Amino acid sequence: MPLAMGKGRFPKSDLSLEEPALALEGVSFAFREGALPVLEEVSLVVPEKSWVTLVGPSGCGKTTLLRIACGILRPTAGRVLIHGKAVDPRGKVAYMPQADTLLPWRTALANAVLAAEVDGRPLAEAKAEARELFQRFGLAGFEDAYPGELSGGMRQRLALIRTFLTHREVLLLDEPLGALDALTRAAMQDWLRQVWEALGKTILFVTHDVEEAVVLSDRIIVLSPRPAHITATVEVPLPRPRNRTSGEAVRLRAEVLRWLEKGDANGD
Ligand SMILES: Nc1ncnc2c1ncn2[C@@H]1O[C@H](COP(=O)(O)OP(=O)(O)OP(=O)(O)O)[C@@H](O)[C@H]1O
Ligand SMILES: [Mg+2]
Repeated sequence: MPLAMGKGRFPKSDLSLEEPALALEGVSFAFREGALPVLEEVSLVVPEKSWVTLVGPSGCGKTTLLRIACGILRPTAGRVLIHGKAVDPRGKVAYMPQADTLLPWRTALANAVLAAEVDGRPLAEAKAEARELFQRFGLAGFEDAYPGELSGGMRQRLALIRTFLTHREVLLLDEPLGALDALTRAAMQDWLRQVWEALGKTILFVTHDVEEAVVLSDRIIVLSPRPAHITATVEVPLPRPRNRTSGEAVRLRAEVLRWLEKGDANGD
């Protein structure tokens, strides 16, 4: 299995030896024939239990890529592989969209167990698991509140709990910590990392915040402006929890920013 294409630094480590839970192979996509494509021959791998982050300019195709990875959209060319097989990603992959899709008429707890209900899993079990996650995510006591009664940060935590409770192995998270103040965001990054570690999930993440990408990811993939192709792949071989102001973190952040600017400068 080839590693992510691109001119960036390639992994020296163990990550590259692990079986990819998710891979895109030469994926191209256009919404209509003759329209400017959105994705151009994107190949990447997301190793099992790793955290891979996509960064790229607004409108380049990050959300489209996630929607292809979870099977909502079908690629115009190329393939999506789950553990090396071209199977339907639905059922294996959970997608948390950029926009809040909580159901306003359901309580927080009822929102959290939605996937269990749709999948026909025992509801009492799912609720017990949800209560535990409410505790861990600082939402205890809000089980019976409606989404409209929660703050933006609480709604995001609830949407994340719901995504974890899908019991899918691979989670696609589209800017899940957007629109939060810096302090709340840093705290949310930390508990998201802890839950990811505790539950052993594989994450493909999208963010506009390069510092966030460095604090959280094993690997950062930089996309060009539309049509998106991979400009660079940057490995982040730092132990966790990470210090966002360490020399190496700052250096990696500057490296990713340089690749982002380069993509713009080339106009490609
Ligand atoms: N349903 C659609 N039909 C036609 N074009 C679309 C559709 N959805 C998105 N696009 C276009 O595809 C391109 C990529 O959109 P996408 O939402 O994937 O970008 P993005 O990288 O997620 O942007 P952002 O960072 O702003 O969320 C954009 O130019 C957008 O206008
Ligand atoms: Mg998007």
